[in-house]
This record gives sequence, C-alpha cells and structure tokens, in this order.
Amino acid sequence: MRVLVTGGAGYIGSVMVRMLADEGHDVVVLDNLSRGHRRAVGGVDIAVVNLEDLSAVTETCRAFQPEACLHFAARSLVAESVAEPLAYFRTNVGGSLNLVGALLETDCDLMVFSSSAATYGIPEGSPIVEDAETAPINPYGVSKLMFERILKWLSEAGSLSYVSLRYFNAAGADILHDLGEDHDPETHLVPRVIAAALGTEPSVSVYGTDYPTPDGTCVRDYIHILDLARAHLLALDYLSSGGPSAVFNLGNGNGFSVKEVIDVVGRVSGREFDIVNAERREGDPSILVASSELIKSRLAWKPEFADLETIIETAWQWHSRHPDGYG
Ligand SMILES: NC(=O)c1ccc[n+]([C@@H]2O[C@H](COP(=O)([O-])OP(=O)(O)OC[C@H]3O[C@@H](n4cnc5c(N)ncnc54)[C@H](O)[C@@H]3O)[C@@H](O)[C@H]2O)c1
Repeated sequence: MRVLVTGGAGYIGSVMVRMLADEGHDVVVLDNLSRGHRRAVGGVDIAVVNLEDLSAVTETCRAFQPEACLHFAARSLVAESVAEPLAYFRTNVGGSLNLVGALLETDCDLMVFSSSAATYGIPEGSPIVEDAETAPINPYGVSKLMFERILKWLSEAGSLSYVSLRYFNAAGADILHDLGEDHDPETHLVPRVIAAALGTEPSVSVYGTDYPTPDGTCVRDYIHILDLARAHLLALDYLSSGGPSAVFNLGNGNGFSVKEVIDVVGRVSGREFDIVNAERREGDPSILVASSELIKSRLAWKPEFADLETIIETAWQWHSRHPDGYG
C-alpha cells in the first residue's frame, strides 16, 4: 500500500515509518523538520513540507498518490499551546485541513489520526473510556478534538474513513532500528528522568507529591512506541477492509506513578541522581489511565511491552547510546 506519513521524522512517526517499510509498504514522509530529525527517517523518501503550505502539500499528494495517510505531524507542547494558541490552531487544525483537502483531491480516503488523551481534559473516572466527556483544558487538546470532529463530519458525508487513536503517554525506544525520543524542549517524564540519570540534566523535578494517589505523585499510562505503532498497522488493515470510522483509546491500561518511573529508571540505569520536589502544575489531573478494551476487541490489538521495566529499559539503552539524541 502507498502510505503518506506526516510527521514521519518525529518520535512516533519515525518508528511507524520503519515498521511500514518492513511490512513492505511504499512510504513517503511529509515533515517540515521543525521538531523532527532527518536522521530518524533513514533511507525513506521525505518531502520537507509545511502542512500550512497548501500548494506544497497538494503537490506532494499529487506526486505520490497515497492510498492511505497516517497523520502524526502536529505541534504538541501543552504549555506552548497555552502561550501561542494561534500557532497551534494554524498547524493542528488549519494544516490538517490542508492535508485532508489534498488527500481527497487525489482520491485518498483513508486516514489514521494521532489524537490524544488531552481531548478528555480532567476526566471524572478511571480508566477512561472513549465515550467519557471530552472537555479539553488547553489549546493543544482543543485542536486535536476539533480535527477529530472535522473527520467525523467528513466521514458522515461519505468522503473518507478514519481511525482516530487517542494516545496516552508514548515511551520507550525501537532498539532494532536505533530510534528513540529526542524532543527539544523535552517535556515527557521518562526521557527527563533518564537525562538526570545520565547527568545531562542536573536533577529531575516531581510536580506535586500530595495527589490522592497511593504515593502522592501523579499516575499516568505509558505505552511502548512499538505497541503504539502496531496499532496503526491494525487500523490500516481495518480501514482498507472497509471498517467504519472509529475513535479508540491507546494506552496499556496500567497506571504508573511518577515515583515508580523514577525508581525504575534508578534500578535499570544503576545510577543515583537528584530529585527535586516541586509545586503541582496547573491542569495536571492526578490519574490518567486509558481503557483500551475497545481497540482490543475491535482490532485484536494487545500491548506486548506493557511492563514499565521493559519500556524504560529500551529508552535507557537508546539514550545511553545517544546522550545528545540525534545530535
Ligand atoms: N508523544 C506522546 O506521548 C503523544 C501523546 C499523545 C499524542 N501524541 C501525538 O502524536 C503525534 C506524534 O507525536 P511525537 O511525540 O512523535 O511528536 P514529534 O514532535 O516528535 O513529531 C511531530 C513531527 O511533526 C512535524 N511537524 C510539526 N509541525 C509540522 C508542520 N507544520 N508541517 C509538517 N510537519 C510538522 C515535526 O517536525 C515532527 O517531526 C503528534 O500529533 C502528537 O500530538 C503524542
């Protein structure tokens, strides 16, 4: 299948690109390299294009004639979205609209969209199911929900079929292809703790130790990127065999606290490092854990690397080999 992967130079997209290539798909990456890394794309064709440039996006689709699109490209820093909402809506909504318009013009009507747990906002219950209320509390989460709604209406009009995957916290590395997480700035917990263990950061901060959780720190759901990427392959099969549009959570279903993550990094790395207890951050829910029962039953997906040790072990291996990331 000819698959266009937007954001294929980024953390998750690059892992996806290699998995697709290994499965024999014909892949082209569309990425403006604003946050991604050319090295992470390997030998796969890349169009260095900004989603906000309609004519360049259209030209890329016309040249490649994709049969399906996996849409990872986005701005995804929550705090930045609060400071610069316009930029977030321009890229994540405006850019995504450019993309979908160009795809439809070239008769490509299958899309898997990278949505987020941020669409739920501060959820009432745990684990979170797909029909829980969506009440995002920042422009990033709103932008993801807006594009989900656009896809829904396009699907209802018969223009396309889509699967929207609401990821929880992606973590870990693809050791086989030597691909890992290199964001700047890095806001994700696992690489931040590893940076403290490697000594590339002086310490790691724990934001809040008085949450109503067993050890007082926030609880999150970490999903290994290989499990996450595999769900996209299943979603592609599902859509190309006529499956109706759907929204699925994608998490491993187990919650781990900030303290547990820090402890496991300490054990796996064998290093000691400084931990700084800081104030709670505004808008951090105490517990965010996915129910992934729907994707398990509809797509026969199941996580293979659900334990925290394995997730962190792969991340540690990659970061200790690449302390400066892709450089
Ligand atoms: N990493 C996570 O834990 C997580 C959780 C929930 C949702 N998501 C979503 O998954 C997707 C991938 O996340 P990631 O961690 O790999 O992010 P990432 O920042 O590593 O990758 C995003 C890629 O998109 C590209 N990009 C950004 N703006 C662009 C534009 N205007 N035009 C073209 N390319 C552009 C960047 O250069 C980068 O390569 C994003 O949509 C993100 O919102 C990620």
